[in-house]
Amino acid sequence: MQLKIALLGGDGIGPEVLAESVKCLQAVAETFNHNFTFEKVPIGAIAIEKYGTPLPKKTLEVCADSDASLFGTIGTPEYDNSPSLSIRPEQGLLQLRKELGLFANVRPVMMFPEIIKNSPLSKKMVAGTDFEIYRELSGGIYYGEKKLENNGTLATDQCSYSEKEISRIAHKAFKAAKKRRKKVTLVDKANVLETSRLWRKVVMTISESYPEVTLECLYIDNAAVQLLLNPTAFDIILTSNMFGDVLSDQGSVIIGSQGLLPSASIGEYHCMFEPVHGSYPQAKGLNKANPVASIFSASLLLSHFGLKEESRAVIASVRKSFKKKIVTPDILGSSKYGTNYVGDFIADHITDIDDDMNMNDENIGLGKSTII
Ligand code: IPM
Ligand code: MN
Repeated sequence: MQLKIALLGGDGIGPEVLAESVKCLQAVAETFNHNFTFEKVPIGAIAIEKYGTPLPKKTLEVCADSDASLFGTIGTPEYDNSPSLSIRPEQGLLQLRKELGLFANVRPVMMFPEIIKNSPLSKKMVAGTDFEIYRELSGGIYYGEKKLENNGTLATDQCSYSEKEISRIAHKAFKAAKKRRKKVTLVDKANVLETSRLWRKVVMTISESYPEVTLECLYIDNAAVQLLLNPTAFDIILTSNMFGDVLSDQGSVIIGSQGLLPSASIGEYHCMFEPVHGSYPQAKGLNKANPVASIFSASLLLSHFGLKEESRAVIASVRKSFKKKIVTPDILGSSKYGTNYVGDFIADHITDIDDDMNMNDENIGLGKSTII
């Protein structure tokens, strides 16, 4: 298969972790006889410094013209600590998602037995965790009108959702549930918010066309608790932009490191793959950030294009790195392996999916991702 992939390293550890997933994609291309081409484009703080904007026109054009985009991370402490700056790195990512029409952000959260002791929760509670968050990505409070009035003493962020915005992601969530354990949990705050009440109405109606799927509705505060007390009870979580952002980071705590979770941002015509984690500026350039969230994002890219075996090979290789303890220090405190070494190991072992691992890859949800 021929794929043209835009690479958006961004800020912080983004470029470092992205380089490792590119290594893995190159190994996949070699092993499985594909032709992947890559083009690097600037976004975020680095683009502000060079071009005065977090999303240069050329970046958008290259992404729009590629089959897929692979994104690193965005944001720097200089901007985090200066809330009054009006041009901010994150605007680049938000604008890119909007321009490419990426309305569905799928965040799989899966526990791998090899690293189960990393979870701060008990083994009994987290064993078998395997859910996917369907986060609406191009609407809600992220994109509502923003105002700062009364000499900077009154701020407003408008939150609005249309029926259309809710139903297009809801259908994706129900279709995914049909292929999995047939349960959708809608997370909202319908006891307080008008937008959440619209979500409930629309989603309840849509659920009637999927009789084999059970719909459960939880308020966000309760969902935050249930997710920690009983993560295995979740299959597909469907939620708004803001709630999905928060819940997915909570998901990374369940599986033991923020350095592990990938995501797929899907629209009608474009797709982008990005780690759930942030730019971790403290680790920038230190060769210690975990590249696995980025590598798993690359495996979601492969799966999105129907390259299921390739995607599984990447996941199997990551699991081999877990098993052999070739991991970064967030996974094993005493580890002396850095981002590069771990990435090399994973890329090098994509070729040899051997039996001695006894991995039972058939059961890996990531490998048979329901994202289409
Ligand atoms: C994420 C990130 C982004 C978001 C930020 C960097 C704008 O936290 O992808 O989860 O809030 O969507
Ligand atoms: Mn986030």
